Amino acid sequence: MALSNLIFSIGLYNTFLIFLTLIIVYTCRFYYKYFTRENPLPGPLPLPFVGNIIDRGFDEFAEYTERMQKKYGDIFEIYFGSQKFIMLSKYEYIQNMFDYSLNSKYMRRIPYFLGLDELDVAGKGIALNHNVNVWKFNRHFISRALLTPSFSKYSVIWTQNLVEEMMDYWKDGEDDDGNFITNIVEWSHRFTTDSITHFTTGMRVHAIEAHYNELLLSRNKKPRKSINDLKDATKFFKSIKTLVIGIYFFIIVPPFIRKYFPFLSNEIKKHLQNRDWLFSKIDELIKSRRREIEYTPLNQPLRFDMLTSMLTAYTDRDICEVKYYDEVYTIRPLTDEEVRGNLWETFVAGIDTTANLFTFVVYFLDKYPNVLRKLRDELDLFFKKLGDLRLDLDCLSQLVYTEAIIKEIFRIYTPAPYTARNSTA
Ligand code: HEM
Repeated sequence: MALSNLIFSIGLYNTFLIFLTLIIVYTCRFYYKYFTRENPLPGPLPLPFVGNIIDRGFDEFAEYTERMQKKYGDIFEIYFGSQKFIMLSKYEYIQNMFDYSLNSKYMRRIPYFLGLDELDVAGKGIALNHNVNVWKFNRHFISRALLTPSFSKYSVIWTQNLVEEMMDYWKDGEDDDGNFITNIVEWSHRFTTDSITHFTTGMRVHAIEAHYNELLLSRNKKPRKSINDLKDATKFFKSIKTLVIGIYFFIIVPPFIRKYFPFLSNEIKKHLQNRDWLFSKIDELIKSRRREIEYTPLNQPLRFDMLTSMLTAYTDRDICEVKYYDEVYTIRPLTDEEVRGNLWETFVAGIDTTANLFTFVVYFLDKYPNVLRKLRDELDLFFKKLGDLRLDLDCLSQLVYTEAIIKEIFRIYTPAPYTARNSTA
């Protein structure tokens, strides 16, 4: 054997030994911590590195936890990676966790995760903020932006504009028999990407337009607009999804594994690059809106959206109609970084939830044609009385059967079947 080959073999052998030692040390440490854990509860035995991911098999997560609930009862523990989660599925167990008094031990949804700090998303926004003080501060700005009559009013108008735009694409894509066969899941996620980003920033991402033109191209038809001009729209849409996966990845995969297992380095790099790209796009939006506000004469009203509300809060251009002050904090304007944290998190919280709800509605209407018929009857009668195809916020409460369908779907197939609380006791 040549000397270089021998050196290479020894190098490989040593690497293998180091790798094996790391795995053994990690496994021993994992099971030591598992068997000496405080307050052990029933639940499936986790494996090192992956936790209970393997015994989930091909089940949907909801099916898996239901199976575990039947086996272990209304309180059990499962592991995602090395993280332990206690699953509670009885009203009495959950009740006091939703008490939002200042004395509550369950103000946080999640604890501090080093991984989320590495991804630069820890302590930002409100949905995933481990820091209760920062959560309260940000929540004040998000509430005054979202929970106002103007926001709801414009959301209804903008949603209808977008529906019309989407219907126009669907009509244009019909075949000779008037059919347009397509993937409703993709459309609804594109739709909510456009609507949520529009409500929150006042600017358009054009995710549905990009999808429509990509579809035309894939069907060998001429796109209406250059795909190149729309590539950032699709990238933005995918980037939000990648950020969500990144958040799970950085929570579940322990720092030790992320640091010492080289095969994960590409995955880590992908998530960090995605974050940089998405955040830079959001920063551009913020800067551009700041400039617009600056150049808008004082006697001209500003557009109403969450971004404008956050940028003008507690400045001389404040657009908030409801001036209420948080008794706990001295309020100051938000920095660009804080605005960015609130924005990306609202995208993450609002896009998939509403898109999934919409696809569940479509699924159940297809399954129950008599319900679909009654829904159509209600809408036909309503629009006939209205004499117009556009509705406003006040009209919505009259759509009683439509609302009942949405509530029933929330009950039997909710888009958010779980919510988390982390005890600070
Ligand atoms: C069908 C649609 C939606 C569902 C099912 C849903 C569900 C939820 C649930 C279960 C929570 C956690 C509540 C808790 O832990 O007590 C939550 C929180 C949150 N959601 Fe939604 N959501 C939806 C739409 C939206 C939309 C459209 C937005 C934004 C425009 C949004 C923004 C948020 C935010 C910011 C939080 C954190 C609230 C806080 O910490 O106070 N959600 N949502």
